Amino acid sequence: MDKEELERGALQNEKEKQEEEEEEQVVNPWEVSAKEGGKIDYDKLIEKFGCQRLNQSLIDRVEHLTSRRAHVFLRRGAFFAHRDFNEILDAYERGEKFYLYTGRGPSSEALHLGHLIPFMFTQYLQEAFKVPLVIQLTDDEKFLWKNLTVEESRRLARENAKDIIACGFDIRRTFIFSDFDYVGGAFYRNMIEISKRVTCNQIVGIFGFVGEDHIGKYSFPPVQAAPSFPSSFPHLFSGKDNLRCLIPCAIDQDPYFRMTRDVAPRIGHHKPALIESLFFPALQGETGKMSASDPNSAIYVTDSEKDIKNKINRYAFSGGQDSIEKHRQLGANLEVDIPIKYLGFFLEDDAELEHIKKEYGAGRMLTGEVKQRLIEVLTKLVERHRRARAAVTDEMVDAFMAVRPLPNMFN
Ligand code: TYM
Repeated sequence: MDKEELERGALQNEKEKQEEEEEEQVVNPWEVSAKEGGKIDYDKLIEKFGCQRLNQSLIDRVEHLTSRRAHVFLRRGAFFAHRDFNEILDAYERGEKFYLYTGRGPSSEALHLGHLIPFMFTQYLQEAFKVPLVIQLTDDEKFLWKNLTVEESRRLARENAKDIIACGFDIRRTFIFSDFDYVGGAFYRNMIEISKRVTCNQIVGIFGFVGEDHIGKYSFPPVQAAPSFPSSFPHLFSGKDNLRCLIPCAIDQDPYFRMTRDVAPRIGHHKPALIESLFFPALQGETGKMSASDPNSAIYVTDSEKDIKNKINRYAFSGGQDSIEKHRQLGANLEVDIPIKYLGFFLEDDAELEHIKKEYGAGRMLTGEVKQRLIEVLTKLVERHRRARAAVTDEMVDAFMAVRPLPNMFN
């Protein structure tokens, strides 16, 4: 049996595995929840999904190839898993470029901090490697899954595009598209090539769809798969069918790309590589991901300073002890402490983070002080984002979304 057949067999077994795991944790593009009362077990996810852990030697290679310090999300292990990232780096070392692909399902007016993570990281990758980027806005996906009209999904896609642009993408290297507007032509031909090579059993195995689900759900995965192939973008990559694709995302999107990687060699393309992050946890704790559908679980990029302060003080799960005496004696449990987790993502200064962990863990610093520092860090971040977003005009959105060649995308 060759490698592709083995992968296909593995996909087919996935439904059974999923059923077994159901009592445990659930991680798919629509639901992320830990085993009752516990935390997401990322080692188990790596094993179940069949991806690889991102190790220090890969991070060292990134630093070497880009001649700059690795992004804090890499250094602190927020991006922790990958598929074939080493092959992207090998190719880059040989002088072959690649392109980046990421996306957003526009289901809400505002992004939350968890959504910013892949976009901030992708912006860093684009700048560090000087490569083009395509960003898919799956307004069709959200129309199919949520109670939204076509027009409302399209409007949200444009609103979300403003938040994405505010993350600092380079217009000379970035193409943002909405599925409702862009799908057709070469993109559609790839979708259909993909559709023909995925069975209903596989889709059910990978995504857990049931007989009562409408067929829109069954037909959507090839839409998210198609941007992994350069031939879906003839205005950008004509004659570059061999270009490799790297997809940064959180690990909830992995099912789409397991399917894509299974099909890729059968239609003459490289398998897309992935670099995958942990979930930025909900305020209430690490049992799930920050979710846009539960306002008290999330901090949005539109929250005011007061909102941020209230949410952190009221909801951020603390690993501190119940009484000051006990806290001074035992110290905080950093493993479950949400303010410490959030600072791990967004406090840039390594030395300060270490200092806080040491002092808080030993009980010399109190929960209130750590929360106060987090409120400062997040307020600054959200304020910076708000200013950048206010500067994004409708004309800029049109310019990023125009179907156009990008002549300087590799320079
Ligand atoms: P969406 O809109 O649910 O999420 C957008 C991106 O944010 C990531 N994400 C998170 N990352 C860290 N912590 C969290 N709490 C968190 N919540 C969401 C997601 O993994 C994603 O990277 N179907 C996709 C849209 C899409 C896409 C893609 C995403 C289309 N093509 C290619 C990534 C790569 C969606 O609905 O994402």
